[in-house]
Amino acid sequence: MHDQPKYQPLERSTFFLDQQASRSPVAGTVPRGQLRDDALLYTGKVDGQDALLFPFRIDETVMARGQERFNIYCSPCHGRTGLGDGMVVRRGYRRPPSFAEERLRQAAIGHFFDVMTNGFGAMPDYAAQIKPADRWAIAAYVRALQLSAHATLTDVPPAERERLDVR
Ligand code: HEC
Repeated sequence: MHDQPKYQPLERSTFFLDQQASRSPVAGTVPRGQLRDDALLYTGKVDGQDALLFPFRIDETVMARGQERFNIYCSPCHGRTGLGDGMVVRRGYRRPPSFAEERLRQAAIGHFFDVMTNGFGAMPDYAAQIKPADRWAIAAYVRALQLSAHATLTDVPPAERERLDVR
């Protein structure tokens, strides 16, 4: 079990002429799932500008996924409500701006995708940890946080209102 007949990454091979066990893709081919021809999905840009639209429909499932991923990857610094008061910040990390501030409420949705993909100032990028579709789901959830920070009772559907204790 411990000593299997297999190659480790970048190990030397006596089988191939160039002695490399790790092979390059055959010229002119694309591995399955790696075509990346959807520029909006992978870059968040349209004509070099931060996109104003999502690359796919945002429904309840996407939103739930965004909430879950946000709470895992972003809330340690940004806080669960996005105000910038996460646990890491309370321990001394640079405080990020609140998502509720006007500049970020006006920012194109592609900006949020871009920040996660390429990092921003003191914030590292999360491209390796979060796949593109999940970055969009998180961006959608950040929008929801922004809305909720400025919502009034009239924004709540009548049927849901009575569940809130607003006396
Ligand atoms: C390790 C802490 C940390 C984590 C985790 C983190 N951020 Fe940040 N974020 C920051 C800091 C710090 C800034 C401010 C950076 C600066 O201005 O130099 C920032 C800034 C931002 C901004 C504002 C950019 C602007 O235009 O001012 C957005 C949007 C953002 N982060 C989104 C996210 C999202 C979404 C996640 C989760 C995928 C995330 N961040 C995870 C620390 C973090």
